Amino acid sequence: MIALNAGLGWLLITLGFASGTLIGLFFHRENWLGGYDSWRRRLLRLGHIAAVALGMLNVLFALSARHVQLSATDHVLCIYGFALGGVSMPTVCALSAWRKPMRHLFFIPVASLLTAGITFSSALFRGGITP
Ligand code: HEM
Repeated sequence: MIALNAGLGWLLITLGFASGTLIGLFFHRENWLGGYDSWRRRLLRLGHIAAVALGMLNVLFALSARHVQLSATDHVLCIYGFALGGVSMPTVCALSAWRKPMRHLFFIPVASLLTAGITFSSALFRGGITP
């Protein structure tokens, strides 16, 4: 099992719970952060969801990677692509909620997750699933 992605995955899931708890203290206020549809509230919500979802994705990768034949390069691209994507997506969401121009950093999580996803799925189609 790839320890980095498993450990980081559960940390992200827990941070997702914690961020949801924080948001949960104020979300009953109709106009909190400018209301449900405001840029700031939407990006904070997206960050909360991304932390939980990408945390689950990292754990899923850690559990399933041993059943897929990955070259040494594939391994590095997947381990660090899913990890960097998992950390940077909620971070860029929070930064963009704070300052809107920070949204220009979204290329970091997008590029790393696309790289890891394409690498892992093409390895899967190339070599199939090993028991
Ligand atoms: C301790 C656990 C959690 C807490 C306290 C929590 C809290 C919240 C709160 C307060 C909101 C509303 C945000 C707003 O109104 O702007 C929210 C939205 C959301 N949460 Fe969580 N959450 C938790 C776990 C999760 C998990 C495990 C998932 C998914 C696997 C999840 C997915 C979502 C989604 C998709 C939304 C957006 C719903 C919508 O469109 O309004 N949350 N959460």
